[in-house]
Amino acid sequence: MLARHAAPFVLLALTALLTPTRAQDAPASSPAPGTLAYDKGVWIALLRNHTAIRREVRHLENGVEAVTESDDPAIAELIRDHALAMKHRMTVGARVRVWDPVFLELFEHADKVQLRVTTTDKGVSIVETSDDPHTVMLLRSHAAGLSDFVREGTKASGKATPYWTERTHWTPIDEAALSESQRAQRDAAIAARDAMFAALFARLESELAASGPAGAIAVCKEQAPLIAAQVAEEHAVQIGRTSDRLRNPANRAPEWAEALLADRPAEPRYSAGADGSLGVALPIRLGANCLACHGEPADLAPETRAALANAYPADQATGFKAGDLRGWFWVQAPPAGETAPKHAP
Ligand code: HEC
Repeated sequence: MLARHAAPFVLLALTALLTPTRAQDAPASSPAPGTLAYDKGVWIALLRNHTAIRREVRHLENGVEAVTESDDPAIAELIRDHALAMKHRMTVGARVRVWDPVFLELFEHADKVQLRVTTTDKGVSIVETSDDPHTVMLLRSHAAGLSDFVREGTKASGKATPYWTERTHWTPIDEAALSESQRAQRDAAIAARDAMFAALFARLESELAASGPAGAIAVCKEQAPLIAAQVAEEHAVQIGRTSDRLRNPANRAPEWAEALLADRPAEPRYSAGADGSLGVALPIRLGANCLACHGEPADLAPETRAALANAYPADQATGFKAGDLRGWFWVQAPPAGETAPKHAP
């Protein structure tokens, strides 16, 4: 059953948020909870107050998890009410936004969706999953569309929701053709690269000094992903290292970067994402100080060879010389004012 015990409070909040200057007229014309007019009123109030809402979406293998919250208790109540109302609409097939193909299709596939709404102190946490891959794509499209509403308010609500497949479309772009905002994204990407490089190699240096190459390998394995995650968080980008000769198979590049790197570019490359992100691939060359772990196998210390074979049975990252192109940093910089979604490797 739909939890509508909070309806009177929601109605008050709604009235206040919708008609801040004429609150005294509102109650008489307020629609009853559960009606389309009521749900629409909540929706419009949320759009108007979109800047007070924050939302984080995480992709699961078979769906999405989204947390939508506000520090304003009245808006938090509207978020909860809206989520439960939409869950109810999904259950009974009472459609909304029928002109919007993603919403229309999602209602058509409602029987393939498992939907769990958990209310939190400040809003809701929602997990939506499906066993059907097309429905999963619809769920991702819908979740990203809601993020657009939260970010842009009414401006986004009038547009049809892009399909996820359109959002994840990438187009390589020449450096000379970068727009002003893309140049800002490029600079943010380079700053993140510099930060990751500095953190990584400061750590490597100290471990090399303390325990030699063989000892440093374990630290590298453990620290490299942590450092990447920390830089990603601090710089609000996604970032990683990759190579056409990987040591760690988990360092495979995201698809957009793989497409850029097929011919082993020695210069930076760029790709524009349909969602406004800029993908940047930045070459990494080896210095003499890298060869203790990436040089000719015959030149590696026996314990380094053993440690590598142990930690990376499929290692392809030896046999290099100083100055060789070793791989690339890839950085995905979101459009201004956004945080990057998590990269699913
Ligand atoms: C102490 C040994 C060691 C040294 C020295 C070292 N690396 Fe590595 N390198 C590793 C290990 C271990 C990994 C795998 C890390 C992981 O699991 O993500 C790695 C991974 C990489 C990767 C990521 C792609 C892949 O193959 O997984 C790049 C790029 C790279 N190293 C470049 C360099 C460069 C450039 C230097 C010198 C500045 C260097 N490395 C020095 C041990 C080393």
